[in-house]
Amino acid sequence: MSEKTSSISGFYKLPVDERRKILSEFSGLTLEEIETLEKTGSLDIDVADKLIENVVSTLEIPVGIAVNFLINGKDYLIPMAIEEASVVAACSNAARMARLGGGFTASATESIMIGQIQIYDYGNLTELQEKILNMKSEILDIANSKSNTLVKLNGGAKDIQLRRLSDRARSAVLHILVDVKDAMGANIVNTMCEAIAPVIEDKCHCRTNLRILSNLTPHRMAHASAVFPKDAIGGEDVVSRIVLASDMASVDPYRAATHNKGIMNGIDAVVLATMNDWRAVEANAHTYTHISDSLSLTRYRATPEGDLMGEINIPISVGTVGGSTNAVPKASLFRKILGVKSAREFSEVLASVGLAQNFAALRALVSEGIQRGHMSLHARNVAITAGAKGNEVEEIAGAMIAAKRISVSYAAELLKKLRNN
Ligand code: HMG
Repeated sequence: MSEKTSSISGFYKLPVDERRKILSEFSGLTLEEIETLEKTGSLDIDVADKLIENVVSTLEIPVGIAVNFLINGKDYLIPMAIEEASVVAACSNAARMARLGGGFTASATESIMIGQIQIYDYGNLTELQEKILNMKSEILDIANSKSNTLVKLNGGAKDIQLRRLSDRARSAVLHILVDVKDAMGANIVNTMCEAIAPVIEDKCHCRTNLRILSNLTPHRMAHASAVFPKDAIGGEDVVSRIVLASDMASVDPYRAATHNKGIMNGIDAVVLATMNDWRAVEANAHTYTHISDSLSLTRYRATPEGDLMGEINIPISVGTVGGSTNAVPKASLFRKILGVKSAREFSEVLASVGLAQNFAALRALVSEGIQRGHMSLHARNVAITAGAKGNEVEEIAGAMIAAKRISVSYAAELLKKLRNN
């Protein structure tokens, strides 16, 4: 028998069937497992095979609809793609309470992305700065020659900035500020940077290295706020405890990581349902806390009436055109359901969802604890993992909740008893 090896040259050139065959042999898949691998949903395997490389299957993820969202006076039903129980319920629950205070008020800035060109071997920084500033209109013209569409829409490259970096970087960096309108913008910004770099090298007698967008977008921000009436959320004690919890997240990195993760539970799910780049959205949000005055993306305070005012300020780069957003039929469908007309409106919705999720989690954490709401919904998941099918799922989940013991081993024990009866 030949040794197993993962060194497979030309794997990408093989048809999907052949790749599956190699994979099945390598991983010792059973016939049943191969059938599972072959099953696909609405995303045709031929389309999937064009979207990424070395495709063997597709992966389904539940899509739930968060209800109750009123944002800037408009009602939204929000598709969320996520495997974690209780996130959709939590968002719906928070939006229900925010609605009692008038709903979410949201806004977003222009869609300004930053392209970075790393410059080294430039000699004197002041001289480099002078040369580059003198070339500003030439640089912007080169950038804008790469996108007639953006220029027609009054977008495109708008400004440049030269930044000095710490000595350790041994380089300076030129920022190109580009208004990408309704696109996420990565492709066009990268194209612009690659076109500009050789001209900088030539005219400034320096060398360039990286030419790539930054996923940190402090000029592309979304803001949302909501008033949660004290009587709807558990009274003044809950209000002051949420403010206390949020103040902790603003300074403690260990708490901020969890606090912001909760926010991204909501945002990522909507981003994924519309097939936007959730890794970019994640990187942006977490890195932003390094340049902001707070480690937390949200903050809370009591209003003069004693209600809770929550707000979120978050950089978000998502598109309603381009990328994979139109290649996957369900992603287009979910965007239609979401009903956002522009990237700006999309960001406003995402910011509101992030605030909603964060508020729901904090409210649970400062009062009854997260386990009852979250774990009772997660119990169904645990029951399925233990092998429960059909009606057994609710029965086993219910028994675990009643016993306040939610674990796969306990679910398996209960399932065995149920089947023996
Ligand atoms: P509840 O108070 O038991 O529910 O909440 P309720 O029966 O009073 O229902 C209130 C509303 O919640 C409902 O309104 C629904 O909108 C929604 P209604 O339809 O009755 O008019 N709702 C549900 N939606 C769908 N399916 C359900 C369901 N139940 C209620 N089964 C709930 C239960 C779970 C909503 C509540 O306990 C809650 O909001 N908990 C927070 C859970 C949470 O935040 N989960 C996210 C994952 S955990 C997380 O984010 C990580 C974390 O570490 C972050 C951090 O530390 O900051 C916690």
